Amino acid sequence: MSALALTVNRRAVDCAAEPRTSLADVVRDHLDLTGTHLGCEHGVCGACTVLIDGVPARSCITFAAACQGAEVTTIEGLDDDEIAAELRAAFTREHALQCGYCTPGMLVSARDLVLRLPDADERAIRVGMSGNLCRCTGYVGIVRAVMSVIAARRARGIAAEVGAGRTALGPVGSGHGAAASETQAAPKPVAAPLAAPTAGATIADFTPSTIIEQSFEVEHPPREVAALFTDVAAVASCLPGVVLSSDDPANITGEIRVQVGPIAAQFAGVARLERADDGLSGRIIGGGQDRRSRSATQGEIRYQLMPLAGGDATRVELTIGYTLTGLLAQVGRSGLVRDLARRLVDEFAANLSRKLSGQPSAPGAAARELDGLALLLSVLRARLPRWLGGTSRS
Ligand code: FES
Ligand code: FES
Repeated sequence: MSALALTVNRRAVDCAAEPRTSLADVVRDHLDLTGTHLGCEHGVCGACTVLIDGVPARSCITFAAACQGAEVTTIEGLDDDEIAAELRAAFTREHALQCGYCTPGMLVSARDLVLRLPDADERAIRVGMSGNLCRCTGYVGIVRAVMSVIAARRARGIAAEVGAGRTALGPVGSGHGAAASETQAAPKPVAAPLAAPTAGATIADFTPSTIIEQSFEVEHPPREVAALFTDVAAVASCLPGVVLSSDDPANITGEIRVQVGPIAAQFAGVARLERADDGLSGRIIGGGQDRRSRSATQGEIRYQLMPLAGGDATRVELTIGYTLTGLLAQVGRSGLVRDLARRLVDEFAANLSRKLSGQPSAPGAAARELDGLALLLSVLRARLPRWLGGTSRS
């Protein structure tokens, strides 16, 4: 095994891989980025195409070790990419996919053409996309979609980029082989997998990989809300799926249960509550690990209570930051996670208001597991009309 340090989708990643391990296996099996598809595994079909240092490459025939130090972008890393968003909309509009198996690789290759080709030349697009095979569509819709995006961008005055990030000739990733052999001579320690803090242990600060900001309002004064926030058990009972075994604010222990279809996860861990002297702001920081799915998370919730309506109501501003690794990280597509978080916060706000009004919690609410599938379905229900209208991206 060799230690491997990469940047994948703008996140530094350290892992260990055999010299023969392909980049596709690393992103799919080690990082759970399964949007990179494997078709032929011979460098023919293009389903596994990713960007290495900004240039498309077949990850099935690229040794991970040859990418030491490289910037790798998979289809998941293009969620917020402007060109990829335009291509997704165009693929939807032009019916450029059927089963979708080839689509991640198609989008990565098409994005490179959109960057490089000076105009929407059909022949140049067919040649440029000839390394990506599709068994379903007959290519007409795909070519039309790519042409339309190039034409629209050039009409908006966005010029083609010569080379589009290419700085050298030769196989992509080849510039990093020397670094790989140096690493083998003086092995870099492989970062330990994210571990759940144990009870009594110091909960270290960390830099979250994802940060989500949300807010909600409750019809109660800030002091009342602040007082409730000092009651760890009461706050936990408002969070779906959370079960506490200790509500000592200095050393909270418990677990959060999540069920997404067949995947049931039970993150056991610890947390700590910190509050400002006036009680109007604070944070909860903690981490947990689920042995079954081999997933781990570290997270923090920062809150700020702002008076509204002359002090009769409160705006609760939340900044939620987390890092998730392991199997469950594959549901971490930023758009969906943001929608899920919004629905979770809505549920938390409703439970908090009920508690502040002295109303009883819904029966079994505290112990109920977080039904990720129900939340996902509600997210999909909300997004479906936009997808069908071709105005959104997933
Ligand atoms: S799976 Fe890599 S080219 Fe087919
Ligand atoms: S849409 Fe099915 S292989 Fe392309």
